[in-house]
Amino acid sequence: RSLENGHNSLPNSPLKFFARAKSRSNDIFKGILDFVSEAETFLQDIKGKENEEYKVIHPFLEMVKGIIEKLNRDHMKVVFFGRTSNGKSTVINAMLRNSILPSGIGHTTHCFLQVEGTEASEGFLLTDDSEDPKSISSIKQLASALSTMKLKENSLIRIVWPNDKCRLLKEDVVFVDSPGIDITPDLDSWIDQFCLDADVFVLVGNAESTLMQTEKNFFHKVSSRLSKPNIFILQNRWDLSVDEEDAYEVKEQHYTRNTHFLTDELKVADKQEAKNRIFFISAKEALISRLHEDSKKSIPTGSLQKKFAERLSAFENFETAFEVCISRSAVQTKFQTHSERGKKIIADLKKIMMRTHTDCSKACEDQFHKRKETIDELSYLDKQLDLLTEEMKQKIENTVEKVEKHVSFVLNEEI
Ligand code: GTP
Ligand code: MG
Repeated sequence: RSLENGHNSLPNSPLKFFARAKSRSNDIFKGILDFVSEAETFLQDIKGKENEEYKVIHPFLEMVKGIIEKLNRDHMKVVFFGRTSNGKSTVINAMLRNSILPSGIGHTTHCFLQVEGTEASEGFLLTDDSEDPKSISSIKQLASALSTMKLKENSLIRIVWPNDKCRLLKEDVVFVDSPGIDITPDLDSWIDQFCLDADVFVLVGNAESTLMQTEKNFFHKVSSRLSKPNIFILQNRWDLSVDEEDAYEVKEQHYTRNTHFLTDELKVADKQEAKNRIFFISAKEALISRLHEDSKKSIPTGSLQKKFAERLSAFENFETAFEVCISRSAVQTKFQTHSERGKKIIADLKKIMMRTHTDCSKACEDQFHKRKETIDELSYLDKQLDLLTEEMKQKIENTVEKVEKHVSFVLNEEI
């Protein structure tokens, strides 16, 4: 089924790093959990519960269980911002190859909409005000459900959508759509509620106007709260510029201003990185062509503008750069923290087991021999965590380099 709808898994997608790191970390932490629980039982057997060692080790169990739980919930999160009608919802739909989010006249996004995957075969909605999932049988019904709900702009609706309909959802990417940045004054609470755990931000601008102060202010606030946020700028609706005589100059001007914004103003990228963060696209064309491609229908004449292939390829370049960026950021921020906590637990556990080992009398020697094995295996897990972090870093760096070379090559050709 997945082969038919354009959502076949891409084995070389950079997003796979995230899945691999997640599954390897999960195995390692399960191993740690076994050792902690064995050590706990052992200490309880020989010393009872009223001793220092037991009291230190016992809480480790909950800690490790907590890390495993958190790990399983970890995902890569991307948040979209921009002025109203710039095409935020359309960009997300094009990336998902599904018209999930309502867009256009009468379908202004009123609150935050999060799209995430599920193994279930039917989609459902989760809202702030209720624990009960609301079923959605079709996209049309979703649009009408969203338009009848009365929600404040800083509330969140989670659209949980079947993984097998969207590759990116299956790969653990969570999308967040937002109301127009020009509509609400409450940007601080938006950042606190929805942005602190975001791996990537996408600013959707439009071809007809340059970045406005509201958009800039928002990202100044974001970058003051998060150190070096990953920001992409999409200059959308580029199909509308094809007939403009000065399209080339306008593109150059957008490029210069956007680069200046990312490098000199926000200081979140250098000039080389900024090249790989600014794309001139048409989300509408990308969506139309993908939906038709997936349903194997021909595209109605007139729905794609002159030179559409350039914009479709710019959209794909954006997605590749995005996939590298989001998986790198998520592996680093999420798994590195887990890995550091895991190493600390292992170090403490080792110290305690060594102490107990030397403390105890010869009579227990046999039993302690077995404990020594445990300690050795803990050292092994410790090394595994080191290796995992190093390997992920290496692989990601290599891919980043490759993709950056490719994209800057394409960009150089385009400009
Ligand atoms: P709000 O939710 O109201 O803030 O808007 P939005 O940013 O989500 O924009 P939306 O995706 O709803 O798009 C607004 C309108 O612009 C829709 O009618 C889209 O079909 C159209 N649109 C989106 N992208 C493009 C594009 O690349 N080119 C053209 N020509 N139209 C586009
Ligand atoms: Mg919208």
